[in-house]
Amino acid sequence: YPTEKIRNFSVVAHIDHGKSTLSDRLLELTNTIKPGQNQQVLDKLEVERERGITVKANSSSMLYDYKGDKYLLNLIDTPGHVDFSYEVSRSLGACDGALLLVDATQGIQAQTLSVFELASQRNLKIIPVINKIDLPAAEPDAVIEQVLMQFDLDIDSALPISAKSGLNVEKVLHAIVDQIPPPPPSPTPPRQQPLKALLFDSYFDKFRGAVSLIKIESGSIQKGDVVVSHHSKSRYTVGEVGVLNPAEKPTTHLQHGQVGYLVCGMKESSEAHIGDTIYKQSQPVEPLPGFQPVKPMVFAGVFPVDNKDFLRLEENVKRLTLNDPSVTVNRESSNALGQGCRVGFLGQLHLDVFRQRLEDEHDSEVIITAPTVPYKVIQGGEERIVRVPSDFPEPHELSNKKASLFEPYVNAEVIVPDEYLGSVIELMSAHRGDQVAFNYLENSNPPRVHLKYHVPLAEIVTDFYAKLKSATSGYASFEYQQADYVASDLVKLNMLIHHRPVDALAMIVHRSKSMDVAKHWVSKLKDVIPKQQFEVAIQAAIGQKPIARETIKAMRMNVTEGLYGGHFDRKLKKLNQQKRGKAKLKTKAVGNIHLPQSAFYDLMKS
Ligand code: GTP
Repeated sequence: YPTEKIRNFSVVAHIDHGKSTLSDRLLELTNTIKPGQNQQVLDKLEVERERGITVKANSSSMLYDYKGDKYLLNLIDTPGHVDFSYEVSRSLGACDGALLLVDATQGIQAQTLSVFELASQRNLKIIPVINKIDLPAAEPDAVIEQVLMQFDLDIDSALPISAKSGLNVEKVLHAIVDQIPPPPPSPTPPRQQPLKALLFDSYFDKFRGAVSLIKIESGSIQKGDVVVSHHSKSRYTVGEVGVLNPAEKPTTHLQHGQVGYLVCGMKESSEAHIGDTIYKQSQPVEPLPGFQPVKPMVFAGVFPVDNKDFLRLEENVKRLTLNDPSVTVNRESSNALGQGCRVGFLGQLHLDVFRQRLEDEHDSEVIITAPTVPYKVIQGGEERIVRVPSDFPEPHELSNKKASLFEPYVNAEVIVPDEYLGSVIELMSAHRGDQVAFNYLENSNPPRVHLKYHVPLAEIVTDFYAKLKSATSGYASFEYQQADYVASDLVKLNMLIHHRPVDALAMIVHRSKSMDVAKHWVSKLKDVIPKQQFEVAIQAAIGQKPIARETIKAMRMNVTEGLYGGHFDRKLKKLNQQKRGKAKLKTKAVGNIHLPQSAFYDLMKS
């Protein structure tokens, strides 16, 4: 296809505004897939279908006849959740335009703003598409006006459609051809140009390893070429190139302006770095701008309930993360939970999706510890990142050598009807958020407010979404992007059971929260630890200093059973015996209280 007949575009939207439905319709109208089949063909994994979210980007090419010409339209699918904003941004790098899809019953939501921001930073041609106009609650005119005013777009450019019924979807195809520019032409024939390919996504194939999705920014690529990853400097021989239609269709080569897949013997998914530049070994080039490897920001320990199950669990964890280059897996051992893995994720949802898949596929019970974010400790001029709470310095270690502690912050945006404004402000301040902006959205009925916050990542990786949802009856939308590290008064909270710290339960918290968190966890622990024959103290401590305590009373054996009536003396004697026995038992048992792993399972579940 000549470059001027190519259109590279993406559909960007807030979650649930209909991206997958519109993508399906576009593929059907261009006869790429049969109508009614392959519903949501772009959502590959089952869990994505279950949860209705697109976790991994996936793309398809379409051929479209329009006004007597044939066009090659490359739809570049972007992941639909905040955890993946870096991937969204890289995928958009492969596009020249984007359809900004907005639900006509909902109007602009938090993610609409952030995806618009990403698209406009890349100077993409943006076509506003207002979806779900078939619904009785739709207010297409008001939403169109809202979108045009908010984003300063051309009044004639908005397209009201129903992706579900297909109404006006053909017009979307026309707009793609008419309004989105083709990729800039190649200055000389592509075969004479050095290859520069943007790796914007990948998926994993059991037999061929990582399959990369690439956009050819210049030059061309074909089977047999020896190529290099700019990031890792690893060398690969191209085994196959082709286009996704949506199934793989091999082609002889891919050239300037085209989008397709590349198989080159990358054995592990982690070799396909999103945002990397691929070039020919014989023609080194400068990398495309702005590459940073994706960094996991939420970590959790994964342990088997039965220690014998560890190797099988580890294998399952590795298999599940094999096709996800953004996950990291390392071994971790704990005195209470035994051998396990520490797994790093992009965000909370990414972790939830993993948890669900692990539960579906690993048939025995798994303990997943509370998530933690990476903290930064600078001590004696040395900087290190702490991803496991038990590695965090104790108070005496902090005072020996002067240390500075930092925690990661995010820039968060919330859009909410103004009747819930008070609840949101209260919630954000309870989560240590600093408000940085406050605006009313134009043309919104009911009136809605757009709030921006600078907030610690740790505050939003626990139950924040659920709280926001319930505080606003589900009407708030939320979005965040990684920001910076900020100096913070952090402490490590140790949980002690019978005076022994349990490493797997240690956590890093802001000092202002330590008391609440301590009380919460000791009472949770009290509920799940079975009674022993002696009294058990459950404490939360900062260093040596306990700040919260619960006590599990000893199991009281009924030693007087069988003694009837007036045998008062004998009863008393038995009870005294029991008391002495217990005292003995307690000292004996110090340090080796038996805790079933199932208690931890219940604890993490609750
Ligand atoms: P994520 O993948 O989670 O980002 O969602 P999405 O944006 O891809 O949304 P999806 O296409 O899954 O649509 C969300 C819901 O809206 C589904 O239940 C669709 O059936 C419904 N929907 C999409 N388009 C329309 C439409 O034009 N009219 C109506 N009535 N419903 C629609």
